[in-house]
Amino acid sequence: MKKQVIIDTDPGPDDGVAILTALGSPMIEVLGVCAVAGNVPLHHTLRNVRKVLELAERQDVRVFAGAEAPLARPLFTAEYVHGKTGFDGYDLPEPSMPVQSQHAADFIVEEVMSRPPRTITLCALGPLTNVASALERDRRLAERIEQIVWMGGASSEGGNVTPAAEFNCYVDPEAAARVLSSGVRVVMMPLDVTHKAHMTTDRVERFRTMGNKVGPIFAELLTYAKQFDWQKYGADRAPLHDPTTVVWLLQPGLFSGLHVNVEIETTSPLTTGMTVIDWWGVTSRQKNAYVVQDVDGDGFYNVIFESFRRLP
Ligand code: RIB
Ligand code: CA
Repeated sequence: MKKQVIIDTDPGPDDGVAILTALGSPMIEVLGVCAVAGNVPLHHTLRNVRKVLELAERQDVRVFAGAEAPLARPLFTAEYVHGKTGFDGYDLPEPSMPVQSQHAADFIVEEVMSRPPRTITLCALGPLTNVASALERDRRLAERIEQIVWMGGASSEGGNVTPAAEFNCYVDPEAAARVLSSGVRVVMMPLDVTHKAHMTTDRVERFRTMGNKVGPIFAELLTYAKQFDWQKYGADRAPLHDPTTVVWLLQPGLFSGLHVNVEIETTSPLTTGMTVIDWWGVTSRQKNAYVVQDVDGDGFYNVIFESFRRLP
């Protein structure tokens, strides 16, 4: 049985790799892709979603526009990493495929509620604004979704926007707090695991020499985006974040983690967006997330390359 997946995303190149890893796998059916403001404003993330789908020749996949801003604070974006468009590094053709008229949050509710319980996985690759809105629009959703696999948060790795906060959580901490307190099943892929999946030069070369259209283009996009990370973390130590969610669905055995309590700081000026993880159960708080800590890096990239090789 194919995994039925909705992707909520704010492309950037790592989101693009996640989307293409899903589209290239015979084990996943992508039911729809929802754009959210994050790496860049919504009009760019919406455009980038369609660019990726057209690159993969998958104009059949429905695209939905979601939130232009976080639930309760101004939008913070990351053009300093991904460039003004979020896809600087390679000029993909202007997309022509349509955007559905339904709001992303309404699509998520309708799609999940119209199918058998616990049959839909939501891969959340950006701030959780759309996901929190969907959970609020229909309280039954939390019980109905199979799981939310979210790239977000950080523990001992520390933050990548502030010393305490990872970007997706920092942009909309209120949304993250609402998702984690909703009772929905969450698998969390924090920076602690995404920083063990290094986008090394030889792995970029494997994209570049893949022999199809998609591989070399993403080698360019990743090279551009990695300039920032190579400066910050050192050559060959740049992380690859969002594909951890899709690879988890395909080969969970490549990962390890613990079921623990995660709370979100939403008020402190110093630590807003911090994921406070109770690894040792020192509180009596509900264990509300399976937090992944480690991944087999080679196995991770082999899954991605296997999917990419099936694409045009
Ligand atoms: O902190 C990394 C996350 O922020 C990734 O999802 C990246 O695409 C950005 O959205
Ligand atoms: Ca993202």
